[in-house]
Amino acid sequence: MKKIIIINGPNLNLLGKREPQIYGSLTFNEFFETIKEKYPQVALEHYQSNVEGELINKIQEVGFTYDGIILNAAAYTHTSVGIGDAVAAIETPVIEVHISNTFKREDFRHLSYVAPNAKGIIVGFGLQSYELAIQSF
Ligand code: DQA
Repeated sequence: MKKIIIINGPNLNLLGKREPQIYGSLTFNEFFETIKEKYPQVALEHYQSNVEGELINKIQEVGFTYDGIILNAAAYTHTSVGIGDAVAAIETPVIEVHISNTFKREDFRHLSYVAPNAKGIIVGFGLQSYELAIQSF
């Protein structure tokens, strides 16, 4: 069974409440339950933190043993050299995902420190971005 973890960065714990016109009205937990049922052949885990160093710790912890990481580093995508370096340092392939189309938004969201070392990037499909990433493994 493939072991895949979804790692969500800052403010994604507020999905469902946060700017629903951009991010939708489902909570991540509600969505996560549906994808766990839909992909029973995958051992799916979820981790969320608002803290940059905790995200780096988790990437390091799973990055040599898991089959895949689906990473939405949220705002840290655009600012964190440390998360970019962690993605470069590990062996597990990382798919970068975003709920919104970051390229349709402010210029500062066009830069990603994750992308240069990601296996691929899925952007702008709402929560379905995560599902497309699962299907890619
Ligand atoms: C996001 C896009 C980021 O620019 C933003 O800071 C987020 C969410 C997305 O999933 O669309 O928090 O990663």
